[in-house]
Amino acid sequence: MRKLRIGVFGAGRGDTMINILLSHPDAEVVAICDKYKPLLDKAGKTAEENGVKVALFEDFEDFFRYDMDAVVLANYACEHVPFAVRLLESGRHVMSECLTCASMAQAVQLIEAVEKSGLVYAYAENYCYQDTTFEMWRACEEGEIGDILYAQGEYVHDCSGEWHALTQGDPHHWRNNCFSTFYCTHGIAPVLTMTGLRPVKVSGFESNCAKYMMECGARDSILGMEIITLENGAVARCINGNLRHHNPAGINSSYIVYGEKGMIESSRYKGCTIEKYTVDGGCTEYTPGKRVEGDLARKFSTHGGADFYPTHFFIEKILGNEIGKKYSIDVYRAVDMCICGILAYRSILNNNMSIEVPDLRDPAQRDRYRNDHACTFAYEAGEQLLPNNSKGVVIGDDAECYKIMRERWEESQRNNC
Ligand SMILES: NC(=O)c1ccc[n+]([C@@H]2O[C@H](COP(=O)([O-])OP(=O)(O)OC[C@H]3O[C@@H](n4cnc5c(N)ncnc54)[C@H](O)[C@@H]3O)[C@@H](O)[C@H]2O)c1
Repeated sequence: MRKLRIGVFGAGRGDTMINILLSHPDAEVVAICDKYKPLLDKAGKTAEENGVKVALFEDFEDFFRYDMDAVVLANYACEHVPFAVRLLESGRHVMSECLTCASMAQAVQLIEAVEKSGLVYAYAENYCYQDTTFEMWRACEEGEIGDILYAQGEYVHDCSGEWHALTQGDPHHWRNNCFSTFYCTHGIAPVLTMTGLRPVKVSGFESNCAKYMMECGARDSILGMEIITLENGAVARCINGNLRHHNPAGINSSYIVYGEKGMIESSRYKGCTIEKYTVDGGCTEYTPGKRVEGDLARKFSTHGGADFYPTHFFIEKILGNEIGKKYSIDVYRAVDMCICGILAYRSILNNNMSIEVPDLRDPAQRDRYRNDHACTFAYEAGEQLLPNNSKGVVIGDDAECYKIMRERWEESQRNNC
Protein backbone atom coordinates (compact mmCIF):
# COMPACT_ATOMS: atom_id res chain seq x y z
CA MET A 1 0.00 0.00 0.00
CA ARG A 2 1.17 3.51 -0.80
CA LYS A 3 2.28 5.48 2.26
CA LEU A 4 0.38 8.65 3.23
CA ARG A 5 2.17 11.71 1.90
CA ILE A 6 2.46 14.26 4.71
CA GLY A 7 3.77 17.83 4.70
CA VAL A 8 5.01 19.71 7.76
CA PHE A 9 4.45 23.47 8.09
CA GLY A 10 6.90 24.99 10.60
CA ALA A 11 10.26 23.30 11.14
CA GLY A 12 10.90 24.24 14.79
CA ARG A 13 8.52 22.08 16.75
CA GLY A 14 7.70 20.45 13.38
CA ASP A 15 11.06 18.71 13.69
CA THR A 16 9.45 16.31 16.20
CA MET A 17 6.76 15.23 13.70
CA ILE A 18 9.35 15.00 10.91
CA ASN A 19 11.37 12.56 13.01
CA ILE A 20 8.31 10.41 13.68
CA LEU A 21 7.31 10.39 10.00
CA LEU A 22 10.83 9.42 8.96
CA SER A 23 10.37 6.04 10.59
CA HIS A 24 6.63 5.49 10.45
CA PRO A 25 5.48 2.38 8.57
CA ASP A 26 2.30 3.95 7.11
CA ALA A 27 3.30 7.53 6.27
CA GLU A 28 6.19 9.57 4.94
CA VAL A 29 7.21 13.20 5.12
CA VAL A 30 7.29 14.58 1.58
CA ALA A 31 7.47 18.36 2.06
CA ILE A 32 8.54 20.89 4.70
CA CYS A 33 7.85 24.62 4.79
CA ASP A 34 9.53 27.26 6.92
CA LYS A 35 10.36 30.85 6.03
CA TYR A 36 13.45 30.67 8.24
CA LYS A 37 15.99 29.12 5.91
CA PRO A 38 18.54 27.74 8.44
CA LEU A 39 15.77 25.76 10.15
CA LEU A 40 14.39 24.56 6.83
CA ASP A 41 17.82 23.42 5.65
CA LYS A 42 18.43 21.63 8.97
CA ALA A 43 15.13 19.73 8.56
CA GLY A 44 16.03 18.85 4.96
CA LYS A 45 19.42 17.56 6.11
CA THR A 46 17.84 15.37 8.81
CA ALA A 47 15.57 13.83 6.18
CA GLU A 48 18.47 13.30 3.80
CA GLU A 49 20.54 11.60 6.52
CA ASN A 50 17.63 9.20 6.89
CA GLY A 51 17.66 8.49 3.18
CA VAL A 52 14.51 10.52 2.47
CA LYS A 53 14.32 13.27 -0.14
CA VAL A 54 11.81 15.97 0.81
CA ALA A 55 10.70 19.09 -1.05
CA LEU A 56 11.67 22.23 0.89
CA PHE A 57 9.68 25.48 0.69
CA GLU A 58 10.22 28.89 2.22
CA ASP A 59 6.89 30.12 0.92
CA PHE A 60 3.58 28.64 2.09
CA GLU A 61 1.88 29.13 -1.31
CA ASP A 62 4.47 26.92 -3.04
CA PHE A 63 4.15 24.33 -0.27
CA PHE A 64 0.35 24.46 -0.54
CA ARG A 65 0.50 23.49 -4.24
CA TYR A 66 2.65 20.42 -3.56
CA ASP A 67 1.14 16.92 -3.76
CA MET A 68 0.30 15.99 -0.15
CA ASP A 69 -2.51 13.95 1.49
CA ALA A 70 -2.19 15.64 4.86
CA VAL A 71 -0.41 18.50 6.60
CA VAL A 72 0.94 18.98 10.12
CA LEU A 73 0.57 22.58 11.32
CA ALA A 74 3.51 23.50 13.52
CA ASN A 75 3.48 27.19 12.63
CA TYR A 76 2.73 30.07 15.04
CA ALA A 77 0.35 28.96 17.81
CA CYS A 78 -2.16 31.75 17.17
CA GLU A 79 -2.31 31.22 13.37
CA HIS A 80 -3.36 27.61 12.93
CA VAL A 81 -6.97 28.14 11.88
CA PRO A 82 -6.55 30.22 8.68
CA PHE A 83 -4.10 27.62 7.35
CA ALA A 84 -6.19 24.66 8.56
CA VAL A 85 -9.28 26.00 6.78
CA ARG A 86 -7.44 26.48 3.47
CA LEU A 87 -5.86 23.04 3.65
CA LEU A 88 -9.15 21.30 4.50
CA GLU A 89 -10.87 23.12 1.62
CA SER A 90 -8.12 21.85 -0.68
CA GLY A 91 -8.78 18.24 0.37
CA ARG A 92 -5.94 17.69 2.86
CA HIS A 93 -6.32 16.13 6.31
CA VAL A 94 -4.90 18.36 9.03
CA MET A 95 -3.14 17.83 12.34
CA SER A 96 -2.67 21.00 14.37
CA GLU A 97 -0.13 21.71 17.05
CA CYS A 98 -1.27 23.68 20.11
CA LEU A 99 -3.32 25.88 20.20
CA THR A 100 -6.55 24.96 18.43
CA CYS A 101 -7.76 28.51 17.74
CA ALA A 102 -7.15 32.14 18.71
CA SER A 103 -10.76 33.34 19.06
CA MET A 104 -14.32 32.10 19.40
CA ALA A 105 -14.99 33.03 15.76
CA GLN A 106 -12.08 30.82 14.70
CA ALA A 107 -13.49 27.95 16.77
CA VAL A 108 -16.71 28.12 14.72
CA GLN A 109 -14.82 28.52 11.42
CA LEU A 110 -12.63 25.52 12.15
CA ILE A 111 -15.49 23.20 13.14
CA GLU A 112 -17.50 24.14 10.06
CA ALA A 113 -14.50 23.66 7.76
CA VAL A 114 -13.87 20.19 9.19
CA GLU A 115 -17.55 19.22 8.90
CA LYS A 116 -17.78 20.50 5.31
CA SER A 117 -14.61 18.69 4.25
CA GLY A 118 -15.42 15.32 5.82
CA LEU A 119 -11.66 14.98 6.39
CA VAL A 120 -9.66 14.16 9.51
CA TYR A 121 -8.69 16.97 11.85
CA ALA A 122 -6.49 15.95 14.78
CA TYR A 123 -5.24 18.02 17.69
CA ALA A 124 -1.65 17.24 18.65
CA GLU A 125 -2.06 17.60 22.42
CA ASN A 126 0.82 15.36 23.46
CA TYR A 127 0.23 15.89 27.22
CA CYS A 128 -2.77 13.54 26.98
CA TYR A 129 -0.48 10.68 25.97
CA GLN A 130 2.30 10.71 28.57
CA ASP A 131 2.71 7.30 30.19
CA THR A 132 1.07 8.77 33.29
CA THR A 133 -1.81 10.76 31.75
CA PHE A 134 -2.63 7.98 29.28
CA GLU A 135 -2.77 5.51 32.19
CA MET A 136 -5.01 7.90 34.15
CA TRP A 137 -7.27 8.12 31.08
CA ARG A 138 -7.52 4.30 31.12
CA ALA A 139 -8.16 4.06 34.86
CA CYS A 140 -10.94 6.67 34.75
CA GLU A 141 -12.48 5.18 31.62
CA GLU A 142 -12.55 1.72 33.20
CA GLY A 143 -14.32 3.10 36.28
CA GLU A 144 -11.51 2.53 38.80
CA ILE A 145 -11.97 6.00 40.30
CA GLY A 146 -15.76 6.05 40.07
CA ASP A 147 -17.86 9.08 39.14
CA ILE A 148 -15.62 12.12 38.83
CA LEU A 149 -15.83 14.74 41.59
CA TYR A 150 -12.78 16.97 41.11
CA ALA A 151 -9.73 17.20 38.83
CA GLN A 152 -6.57 19.26 38.46
CA GLY A 153 -4.25 19.93 35.54
CA GLU A 154 -1.01 21.83 35.92
CA TYR A 155 1.51 22.90 33.30
CA VAL A 156 4.27 25.15 34.59
CA HIS A 157 7.23 25.70 32.31
CA ASP A 158 9.74 28.43 33.08
CA CYS A 159 10.91 29.38 29.59
CA SER A 160 12.64 32.63 30.65
CA GLY A 161 16.13 31.19 30.02
CA GLU A 162 15.32 30.36 26.39
CA TRP A 163 12.96 33.27 25.61
CA HIS A 164 15.51 34.85 23.22
CA ALA A 165 15.56 31.64 21.16
CA LEU A 166 11.78 31.18 21.31
CA THR A 167 10.94 34.74 20.21
CA GLN A 168 14.12 36.05 18.52
CA GLY A 169 13.33 39.37 20.25
CA ASP A 170 10.34 39.91 17.96
CA PRO A 171 7.79 42.12 19.79
CA HIS A 172 5.08 40.65 17.54
CA HIS A 173 5.90 37.00 18.24
CA TRP A 174 2.85 35.13 19.60
CA ARG A 175 4.68 34.25 22.81
CA ASN A 176 5.02 37.98 23.55
CA ASN A 177 1.41 38.71 22.60
CA CYS A 178 -0.50 36.01 24.46
CA PHE A 179 -2.99 36.37 27.22
CA SER A 180 -2.38 34.31 30.36
CA THR A 181 -4.97 31.61 29.64
CA PHE A 182 -4.17 31.22 25.91
CA TYR A 183 -1.63 28.39 26.20
CA CYS A 184 -4.03 26.40 28.37
CA THR A 185 -4.43 22.97 26.80
CA HIS A 186 -1.40 21.21 28.33
CA GLY A 187 -3.26 21.70 31.63
CA ILE A 188 -6.89 21.29 30.50
CA ALA A 189 -6.69 18.66 27.75
CA PRO A 190 -5.58 15.68 29.89
CA VAL A 191 -8.33 16.52 32.39
CA LEU A 192 -10.92 16.35 29.60
CA THR A 193 -9.57 13.15 28.03
CA MET A 194 -9.25 11.44 31.44
CA THR A 195 -12.69 12.38 32.68
CA GLY A 196 -14.35 12.13 29.25
CA LEU A 197 -16.47 15.11 30.31
CA ARG A 198 -17.33 18.34 28.51
CA PRO A 199 -16.72 21.74 30.11
CA VAL A 200 -19.90 23.78 30.62
CA LYS A 201 -18.83 26.82 32.65
CA VAL A 202 -15.55 28.64 33.36
CA SER A 203 -14.14 31.39 35.55
CA GLY A 204 -10.65 32.72 34.93
CA PHE A 205 -8.00 34.14 37.24
CA GLU A 206 -4.53 35.49 36.59
CA SER A 207 -1.58 36.50 38.69
CA ASN A 208 0.80 39.46 38.39
CA CYS A 209 3.09 40.14 35.48
CA ALA A 210 6.43 38.86 36.81
CA LYS A 211 9.42 41.15 36.34
CA TYR A 212 11.64 38.36 34.98
CA MET A 213 9.20 37.63 32.15
CA MET A 214 8.53 41.34 31.42
CA GLU A 215 12.29 41.71 30.99
CA CYS A 216 12.05 39.03 28.31
CA GLY A 217 9.24 40.94 26.54
CA ALA A 218 6.26 38.78 27.57
CA ARG A 219 3.20 40.97 27.99
CA ASP A 220 0.88 38.50 29.72
CA SER A 221 0.56 37.65 33.39
CA ILE A 222 2.84 34.90 34.72
CA LEU A 223 -0.02 32.53 35.54
CA GLY A 224 -3.42 31.76 34.03
CA MET A 225 -6.01 29.69 35.88
CA GLU A 226 -9.33 28.22 34.80
CA ILE A 227 -11.92 26.95 37.26
CA ILE A 228 -14.10 24.75 35.07
CA THR A 229 -17.45 23.13 35.81
CA LEU A 230 -17.78 19.84 33.96
CA GLU A 231 -21.02 18.49 32.52
CA ASN A 232 -21.64 16.15 35.50
CA GLY A 233 -21.27 19.02 37.99
CA ALA A 234 -17.67 18.19 38.97
CA VAL A 235 -15.12 21.00 39.16
CA ALA A 236 -11.62 21.17 37.63
CA ARG A 237 -8.82 23.61 38.31
CA CYS A 238 -6.19 24.08 35.61
CA ILE A 239 -3.15 26.35 35.51
CA ASN A 240 -0.42 27.25 33.05
CA GLY A 241 2.47 29.67 33.18
CA ASN A 242 6.17 30.44 33.36
CA LEU A 243 6.47 30.23 37.15
CA ARG A 244 9.91 29.38 38.46
CA HIS A 245 10.44 25.85 39.74
CA HIS A 246 13.23 23.38 40.37
CA ASN A 247 11.90 20.27 38.66
CA PRO A 248 14.87 18.55 37.00
CA ALA A 249 12.52 17.45 34.21
CA GLY A 250 12.31 21.11 33.14
CA ILE A 251 8.53 21.18 33.25
CA ASN A 252 6.24 20.97 36.26
CA SER A 253 3.25 19.11 34.94
CA SER A 254 0.94 17.07 37.12
CA TYR A 255 -2.62 15.87 37.11
CA ILE A 256 -5.08 14.60 39.73
CA VAL A 257 -8.54 13.10 39.46
CA TYR A 258 -10.75 12.43 42.50
CA GLY A 259 -13.86 10.29 42.20
CA GLU A 260 -16.50 8.42 44.22
CA LYS A 261 -14.20 5.39 44.57
CA GLY A 262 -10.78 7.03 45.09
CA MET A 263 -8.17 9.14 43.40
CA ILE A 264 -5.32 8.92 40.91
CA GLU A 265 -2.38 11.28 40.58
CA SER A 266 0.71 11.67 38.41
CA SER A 267 3.80 12.44 40.46
CA ARG A 268 5.36 15.83 39.82
CA TYR A 269 8.90 14.90 40.81
CA LYS A 270 9.16 11.11 40.49
CA GLY A 271 9.18 10.87 36.68
CA CYS A 272 6.61 8.49 35.27
CA THR A 273 5.04 7.50 38.57
CA ILE A 274 1.36 7.10 39.34
CA GLU A 275 -0.08 7.18 42.82
CA LYS A 276 -3.51 5.65 43.17
CA TYR A 277 -5.88 5.15 46.05
CA THR A 278 -9.18 3.29 45.87
CA VAL A 279 -11.53 2.30 48.67
CA ASP A 280 -11.34 -1.30 47.46
CA GLY A 281 -7.62 -1.56 46.64
CA GLY A 282 -5.91 0.87 49.05
CA CYS A 283 -2.78 2.79 48.02
CA THR A 284 -0.51 1.82 45.14
CA GLU A 285 2.46 3.49 43.48
CA TYR A 286 3.55 2.24 40.07
CA THR A 287 5.26 3.09 36.80
CA PRO A 288 2.88 2.54 33.92
CA GLY A 289 4.30 1.19 30.68
CA LYS A 290 3.35 2.14 27.14
CA ARG A 291 -0.38 1.55 26.85
CA VAL A 292 -0.69 0.97 23.12
CA GLU A 293 1.61 0.38 20.15
CA GLY A 294 4.53 0.03 22.58
CA ASP A 295 7.15 -1.27 20.13
CA LEU A 296 6.77 1.68 17.81
CA ALA A 297 6.19 4.24 20.57
CA ARG A 298 9.38 3.31 22.44
CA LYS A 299 11.47 4.52 19.49
CA PHE A 300 10.54 8.13 20.26
CA SER A 301 11.70 9.73 23.48
CA THR A 302 10.68 13.41 23.29
CA HIS A 303 8.24 14.57 25.96
CA GLY A 304 8.65 11.15 27.58
CA GLY A 305 7.48 9.37 24.43
CA ALA A 306 4.15 11.22 24.37
CA ASP A 307 5.00 13.01 21.11
CA PHE A 308 4.65 9.84 19.07
CA TYR A 309 0.95 9.31 19.71
CA PRO A 310 -0.80 12.37 18.20
CA THR A 311 0.94 11.80 14.85
CA HIS A 312 0.42 8.05 15.00
CA PHE A 313 -3.29 8.28 15.87
CA PHE A 314 -3.76 10.94 13.16
CA ILE A 315 -2.31 8.56 10.56
CA GLU A 316 -4.32 5.61 11.84
CA LYS A 317 -7.55 7.64 11.81
CA ILE A 318 -6.97 8.69 8.20
CA LEU A 319 -6.46 5.02 7.37
CA GLY A 320 -9.79 4.21 9.07
CA ASN A 321 -8.25 2.17 11.89
CA GLU A 322 -10.11 1.87 15.21
CA ILE A 323 -7.16 2.88 17.38
CA GLY A 324 -6.93 6.22 15.58
CA LYS A 325 -10.67 6.80 15.80
CA LYS A 326 -10.62 6.11 19.53
CA TYR A 327 -7.62 8.11 20.64
CA SER A 328 -7.06 10.91 18.13
CA ILE A 329 -8.44 14.19 19.51
CA ASP A 330 -11.13 15.46 17.13
CA VAL A 331 -12.07 19.05 16.37
CA TYR A 332 -14.91 19.22 18.92
CA ARG A 333 -12.75 18.11 21.81
CA ALA A 334 -9.88 20.29 20.60
CA VAL A 335 -12.21 23.31 20.60
CA ASP A 336 -13.56 22.44 24.09
CA MET A 337 -9.98 22.32 25.40
CA CYS A 338 -9.03 25.67 23.93
CA ILE A 339 -12.13 27.84 24.35
CA CYS A 340 -12.05 27.28 28.12
CA GLY A 341 -8.92 29.45 28.04
CA ILE A 342 -10.34 32.04 25.64
CA LEU A 343 -13.47 32.43 27.76
CA ALA A 344 -11.49 32.34 31.01
CA TYR A 345 -9.69 35.46 29.81
CA ARG A 346 -13.06 37.19 29.26
CA SER A 347 -13.82 36.24 32.81
CA ILE A 348 -10.51 37.69 34.03
CA LEU A 349 -11.26 40.99 32.30
CA ASN A 350 -14.75 40.97 33.89
CA ASN A 351 -13.96 40.51 37.56
CA ASN A 352 -13.70 36.68 37.30
CA MET A 353 -17.35 36.28 36.36
CA SER A 354 -18.60 32.82 35.47
CA ILE A 355 -19.06 32.26 31.71
CA GLU A 356 -20.98 29.52 29.92
CA VAL A 357 -18.82 27.30 27.66
CA PRO A 358 -20.93 26.65 24.55
CA ASP A 359 -21.18 23.21 22.98
CA LEU A 360 -20.18 24.12 19.43
CA ARG A 361 -21.13 20.63 18.21
CA ASP A 362 -24.61 22.14 18.14
CA PRO A 363 -24.99 24.41 15.08
CA ALA A 364 -27.63 26.46 16.93
CA GLN A 365 -24.99 27.62 19.43
CA ARG A 366 -22.55 28.89 16.80
CA ASP A 367 -24.12 32.12 15.53
CA ARG A 368 -23.53 33.92 18.81
CA TYR A 369 -19.75 33.50 18.33
CA ARG A 370 -19.41 33.75 14.55
CA ASN A 371 -18.24 37.38 14.71
CA ASP A 372 -16.49 37.15 18.06
CA HIS A 373 -12.86 37.80 17.18
CA ALA A 374 -11.82 39.22 20.55
CA CYS A 375 -8.28 38.18 21.54
CA THR A 376 -4.84 39.73 21.97
CA PHE A 377 -3.59 38.86 18.48
CA ALA A 378 -3.96 41.91 16.22
CA TYR A 379 -4.29 40.01 12.91
CA GLU A 380 -7.38 38.18 14.18
CA ALA A 381 -8.94 40.67 16.58
CA GLY A 382 -9.05 43.80 14.43
CA GLU A 383 -11.18 46.31 16.33
CA GLN A 384 -11.92 43.71 19.04
CA LEU A 385 -8.29 43.70 20.27
CA LEU A 386 -7.97 42.97 24.02
CA PRO A 387 -5.16 44.09 26.38
CA ASN A 388 -2.53 41.43 27.10
CA ASN A 389 -3.18 41.44 30.84
CA SER A 390 -5.66 42.72 33.39
CA LYS A 391 -2.98 44.53 35.38
CA GLY A 392 -2.55 47.56 33.12
CA VAL A 393 1.02 46.56 32.19
CA VAL A 394 1.97 47.74 28.69
CA ILE A 395 5.27 47.00 26.93
CA GLY A 396 5.80 49.01 23.73
CA ASP A 397 7.18 47.42 20.56
CA ASP A 398 10.27 49.61 20.88
CA ALA A 399 11.06 48.55 24.47
CA GLU A 400 14.72 47.79 25.28
CA CYS A 401 13.89 44.17 26.26
CA TYR A 402 13.26 43.23 22.61
CA LYS A 403 16.66 44.60 21.54
CA ILE A 404 18.34 42.65 24.35
CA MET A 405 16.53 39.42 23.39
CA ARG A 406 17.35 39.97 19.71
CA GLU A 407 21.06 40.48 20.45
CA ARG A 408 21.11 37.40 22.68
CA TRP A 409 19.49 35.33 19.96
CA GLU A 410 21.89 36.64 17.25
CA GLU A 411 24.84 35.84 19.49
CA SER A 412 23.54 32.30 20.07
CA GLN A 413 23.19 31.85 16.29
CA ARG A 414 26.79 32.99 15.74
CA ASN A 415 27.99 30.56 18.43
CA ASN A 416 26.05 27.73 16.77
CA CYS A 417 27.80 28.28 13.43
N1 LIG B 1 3.01 20.27 22.12
C1 LIG B 1 4.17 20.70 22.55
O1 LIG B 1 4.74 20.16 23.48
C2 LIG B 1 4.78 21.88 21.85
C3 LIG B 1 6.10 22.25 22.12
C4 LIG B 1 6.63 23.35 21.43
C5 LIG B 1 5.85 24.02 20.52
N2 LIG B 1 4.57 23.63 20.28
C6 LIG B 1 3.73 24.30 19.28
O2 LIG B 1 4.35 24.17 18.02
C7 LIG B 1 4.14 25.34 17.22
C8 LIG B 1 5.45 25.93 16.77
O3 LIG B 1 6.18 26.33 17.89
P1 LIG B 1 7.76 26.56 17.86
O4 LIG B 1 8.26 26.28 19.22
O5 LIG B 1 8.38 25.81 16.71
O6 LIG B 1 7.95 28.12 17.67
P2 LIG B 1 7.38 29.21 16.67
O7 LIG B 1 5.94 29.35 16.85
O8 LIG B 1 8.21 30.40 16.87
O9 LIG B 1 7.74 28.58 15.25
C9 LIG B 1 6.91 28.56 14.18
C10 LIG B 1 7.75 28.23 12.95
O10 LIG B 1 6.88 28.35 11.83
C11 LIG B 1 7.49 29.17 10.82
N3 LIG B 1 6.41 29.93 10.17
C12 LIG B 1 5.39 30.58 10.79
N4 LIG B 1 4.59 31.17 9.86
C13 LIG B 1 5.12 30.88 8.66
C14 LIG B 1 4.75 31.21 7.32
N5 LIG B 1 3.66 31.97 7.05
N6 LIG B 1 5.51 30.75 6.30
C15 LIG B 1 6.61 29.98 6.57
N7 LIG B 1 7.01 29.65 7.80
C16 LIG B 1 6.28 30.08 8.84
C17 LIG B 1 8.45 30.10 11.59
O11 LIG B 1 9.52 30.54 10.77
C18 LIG B 1 8.91 29.22 12.74
O12 LIG B 1 10.08 28.49 12.43
C19 LIG B 1 3.29 26.26 18.09
O13 LIG B 1 1.96 26.06 17.76
C20 LIG B 1 3.55 25.78 19.50
O14 LIG B 1 2.48 26.02 20.36
C21 LIG B 1 4.03 22.57 20.94
